[in-house]
Amino acid sequence: MPHLLQLDSSARTRSFSRALTARFARTWVEGGNTHTYRDLAANPVPPIGEGWTQICDTLLREGITQPADYPSAVRTPAQQEAWSVVEPLLAELLAADAVVIGCPMYNYSVPGALKTWLDQVTFPRMSLAGRSFFVMGARGGSYLPGTPRAPFDYHERYLRDFFAGHFAVEDVTFVHAELTNTLVDPVIAHLEAEHRASATAAEERAVQMARR
Ligand SMILES: Cc1cc2nc3c(=O)[nH]c(=O)nc-3n(C[C@H](O)[C@H](O)[C@H](O)COP(=O)(O)O)c2cc1C
Repeated sequence: MPHLLQLDSSARTRSFSRALTARFARTWVEGGNTHTYRDLAANPVPPIGEGWTQICDTLLREGITQPADYPSAVRTPAQQEAWSVVEPLLAELLAADAVVIGCPMYNYSVPGALKTWLDQVTFPRMSLAGRSFFVMGARGGSYLPGTPRAPFDYHERYLRDFFAGHFAVEDVTFVHAELTNTLVDPVIAHLEAEHRASATAAEERAVQMARR
């Protein structure tokens, strides 16, 4: 039975990316599958510290690449403390067949809450190939190909490169609700219809993806 890990990272409780991951997860579970939820904004993971970097250096130095062997690189009390944070996060990730991530665009990139989680769970040459990743994004503006802001999209582009480069995962699907700021910013309020069309299409795609 395929297992889903659902992550949210929006600082808002009423948020477009949260609504999309919730829709995705609901559809996934309705299909008879299982799921685990982690809210990275409400319950942030701490930033990595020196103990974490020491574990990472040992993995590199000793050529340890299999997650099952990572505990052999945990040797000092500081490293044990770091590992006690990583272990449950990593176990949750490795147990998932699919991961759906709610990810707003913050300052052209991803929220710090998500980046901190990525820093914690990513180790040298680890492979998550075979897993599917779904990113449910929301952006205040539009970053579609051909729009003036498209070159500033370090949001989708960062995650796409990250998953390929660090997780060896190419099976990544992005779904974005665009122009969400049309609801709060009078300067772009005239684009509200485009936002609504984008949000509706994103929700439909989230459901399709969860049924895939
Ligand atoms: C800290 C912060 C930074 C933001 N930076 C950008 C940005 O660089 N570009 C953009 O289009 N929208 C930006 N926005 C708007 C959000 O992308 C937008 O509100 C989106 O809907 C947030 O996702 P959510 O609805 O899931 O919370 C920013 C919002 C916040 C709170």
